[in-house]
Amino acid sequence: YIGYQKFFPQAELPYDDDQEGLSDQIVFKFSHVVAENTPKGQAAAKFAELVDKKSNGTIQIVVFPNGSLYSDIEEISALKDEQVHLIAPSTSKLGMLSAEWGVLDLPFAFPNYEAIIKGVHGPIGEKLLQSLEKEGLKGLAHWPNGLKQITTNKGPVIEPEDLAGQNFRIMQSDIIQAQYGLLGAVAQQESFNSTFNLIEEGKVDGEENTISNIYSRKFYTVQKHLTITEHGYLGYAVMMNQDVWDRQSEETQQILLEAMEETTAWNDENAHKLNEEQLALIKENSSIQIHELSGPEKQRWIKKLNPLYEEYGEVIGKELMENLRELRE
Ligand code: LMR
Repeated sequence: YIGYQKFFPQAELPYDDDQEGLSDQIVFKFSHVVAENTPKGQAAAKFAELVDKKSNGTIQIVVFPNGSLYSDIEEISALKDEQVHLIAPSTSKLGMLSAEWGVLDLPFAFPNYEAIIKGVHGPIGEKLLQSLEKEGLKGLAHWPNGLKQITTNKGPVIEPEDLAGQNFRIMQSDIIQAQYGLLGAVAQQESFNSTFNLIEEGKVDGEENTISNIYSRKFYTVQKHLTITEHGYLGYAVMMNQDVWDRQSEETQQILLEAMEETTAWNDENAHKLNEEQLALIKENSSIQIHELSGPEKQRWIKKLNPLYEEYGEVIGKELMENLRELRE
């Protein structure tokens, strides 16, 4: 672990260092909060595999899924403190770093998955990754998951008024909080890991997430209603600590960048596929009531939530709002 100690002098060694053949390996810890059978879980594993191959085993990415190292609330400071070397928080949670990330949280910002791909890999996504620089973070890529749906025990949820008075678990995001405010619901910002228990113990009525999170964390087993609203984006910004990045050799940086690029292209396909497959599995394996918003129903949700564009446009910034408008045209 000579390499590891050189690059991460403050960090603890992840393994016994008496294993043979590992002495000049560089090891990066990648922490995330979701299950392994999700877009982020599979992309992290793919990235590890590609880095291993491209470096002939000399660079190892050790992935810690399910929040086993740090929760979503802790992982950004763990990255800043070099306790972990790669994270991929959902972009909604980055509003705590700077308000422009809110552009991706605007309700119905992206009409479909193709628009997401264009948005996060185009000028919007690039500007957002650059905004991490001032935090001492190096933004490497966007890994989209998909569009969020609503699950609840008080349903069915068909019209925007149907959420009035309900309690919802949400991510750490002002815009999402405001969205539930407009709908007359009470939203609690809680960690992803606590969500299943909050629902099971009746502390919240519902939550919003992509199908892959609803499936892999079994939310569908403790919720009676699922509405396919596709009302918001969920995806990840993959990042490292800038100082850790700067300490790597050019060769290492190149391997990480190439592997990241390939993984990102792979995830664009895989995330979409996984969400579709897992919706079919939910339909097959549970009795949850599913309602898909019709065109006119969706229009009423869009209209109801539209004031958030006005309310948050200024803090998000003119340029990003303009980029979003162009994308939606
Ligand atoms: C959530 O907190 O619901 C999601 O951000 C979890 C994740 O990382 O997909």
